[in-house]
Amino acid sequence: MKTSSLPLLLLLLHLSATISAAPSLSPTPAPTTSPIPPLKKPPSSSTSPLDPKQLKALESLNIPTVKDPCNHRPTTSKSASSSVVTCDTSSPFRLVTSISFTNCSSDLSISSTALRALSPSLTSLSFLNCPSLSPPPRLPESLHSFTAVSSFLRRRNGLSGVFLARLVNLTDLTVSSVPVSTSGLFVILGNMRKIVSLTISHANLSGNIPKSLHSNLTFIDLSDNLLKGSIPTSVTLLSNLKSLNLSKNSISGDIPDGIGDLISLKNLSLASNKLSGPIPDSISSIPQLTHLDLSGNQLNGTVPRFISQMKHLTHLNLANNDFRGVLPFNASFIKNLEVFKIGGNSDLCYNHTVLSSKMKLGIAKCDKHGLPLSPPPQKEDSNSDYDYGNEDDTSEKKKEEHHGPNKVVLGVAIGLSSLVFLIIFMILLAKWCG
Ligand SMILES: *[C@@H]1O[C@H](CO)[C@@H](O)[C@H](O)[C@H]1NC(C)=O
Ligand SMILES: *[C@@H]1O[C@H](CO)[C@@H](O)[C@H](O)[C@H]1NC(C)=O
Ligand SMILES: *[C@@H]1O[C@H](CO)[C@@H](O)[C@H](O)[C@H]1NC(C)=O
Ligand SMILES: *[C@@H]1O[C@H](CO)[C@@H](O)[C@H](O)[C@H]1NC(C)=O
Ligand SMILES: *[C@@H]1O[C@H](CO)[C@@H](O)[C@H](O)[C@H]1NC(C)=O
Ligand SMILES: *[C@@H]1O[C@H](CO)[C@@H](O)[C@H](O)[C@H]1NC(C)=O
Ligand SMILES: *[C@@H]1O[C@H](CO)[C@@H](O)[C@H](O)[C@H]1NC(C)=O
Ligand SMILES: *[C@@H]1O[C@H](CO)[C@@H](O)[C@H](O)[C@H]1NC(C)=O
Ligand SMILES: *[C@@H]1O[C@H](CO)[C@@H](O)[C@H](O)[C@H]1NC(C)=O
Repeated sequence: MKTSSLPLLLLLLHLSATISAAPSLSPTPAPTTSPIPPLKKPPSSSTSPLDPKQLKALESLNIPTVKDPCNHRPTTSKSASSSVVTCDTSSPFRLVTSISFTNCSSDLSISSTALRALSPSLTSLSFLNCPSLSPPPRLPESLHSFTAVSSFLRRRNGLSGVFLARLVNLTDLTVSSVPVSTSGLFVILGNMRKIVSLTISHANLSGNIPKSLHSNLTFIDLSDNLLKGSIPTSVTLLSNLKSLNLSKNSISGDIPDGIGDLISLKNLSLASNKLSGPIPDSISSIPQLTHLDLSGNQLNGTVPRFISQMKHLTHLNLANNDFRGVLPFNASFIKNLEVFKIGGNSDLCYNHTVLSSKMKLGIAKCDKHGLPLSPPPQKEDSNSDYDYGNEDDTSEKKKEEHHGPNKVVLGVAIGLSSLVFLIIFMILLAKWCG
């Protein structure tokens, strides 16, 4: 019995060694709890009926009106066209205040007659993923909010600037993944005196940023367009601005000093443009900045130390620029950030008595004069988020000290030992059976 249990024991030992050497499986993500659909309000007898003219208009827009359309909820079936209507509580007739179309069917058309019937009360209109829809000739000027995402794609020119410019009562404009043809943003914004939130992204928007902007803007996303020229002072005068995203354009010149006047700013992305010059010191006076993305430009000079004193910062991306000198950050600052990227700055280096190579920053170590040591590190994927606190990284440290041959030796040793175990096992098995 003793001899027969030995091979099994060896096998088990070998197996358990192999298993423990394998990388531990990442924890399975927690099951996403599906949101509970909002309950349909029971039609209370006290609410007045919908205005008959508006009811007809909704019917012409393929919106089901058998049940009270004001409480209509999207159908549950995926990819089916759906619409959500909200109404006010006026009497004797209620009036439609907002309509949102999602995944429109190809036979939907928005008639001018229907819009006219809805227009005095309609303040919000949205089209999400309605690519084959044609834009109506004119939208009601009563709109406070207009949204078009991945819609109106059959027309090569998408939406025209003049079409949008007529919406003088807008506070919110969102156009994303819809081409916008205009000679410049000034055409669209010229008369939108109440605009607060502006998104025109992934829209092939060309021209410059206007020299004058309406002062109540709190949110600007003009990312992924064809904007050029420099950042004008009109932008730095927006003292209510909380978020400015100009990423993925061809904006050039310096980051203006006036950027520090944006004292309400929380998110700033100027990534993937053609900006040059230094990071202005004035950025240190933006008290609540949480996201700072200046990656993919030609910014130069040293990385300012004051960035590490910005208490609210959680996302910092300075990758792929021309910064030089010694990175002035310590490990505790970097570890407290959710995202930190600095790779792709070939003249920048880190002080290895302050920061460990474990952090895989994607820049070279400094020599004693504060210059990058050659050879520079392997180019890191600047899109990956590095995981600093991870203790498993100790194995990575050896890798970086260029002990390449040792790894081969280790591999051969493991392979050989496996073979030896297998042979012993087979011999013992043969003995035992025979
Ligand atoms: C729209 O269609 C997409 C898939 O094409 C689906 O994921 C989404 O849930 C749909 N939206 C609605 C509101 O039906
Ligand atoms: C714009 O809004 C104001 C107040 O909300 C309203 O009085 C005015 O009639 C609206 N303009 C148009 C053209 O609907
Ligand atoms: C922008 O223009 C390019 C070429 O002119 C085209 O390929 C692309 O689809 C356009 N993008 C949008 C969002 O319309
Ligand atoms: C800006 O907003 C404030 C309050 O939100 C309002 O009183 C003021 O009239 C607005 N200014 C403009 C130019 O719309
Ligand atoms: C800043 O960006 C983050 C991530 O994109 C977002 O969650 C947050 O709401 C934004 N804050 C503002 C003020 O736009
Ligand atoms: C800016 O816009 C880009 C592209 O639309 C997006 O990926 C990024 O998250 C935005 N950044 C911030 C800080 O809002
Ligand atoms: C930074 O770049 C600008 C032009 O792009 C150049 O004039 C300036 O000398 C550079 N500054 C440093 C410190 O390299
Ligand atoms: C790291 O840098 C931050 C900001 O400059 C500073 O407040 C903190 O004391 C430093 N921590 C260590 C351990 O040096
Ligand atoms: C690196 O840090 C140490 C300790 O703070 C300091 O003495 C040394 O001068 C620094 N080296 C460089 C090149 O900055």
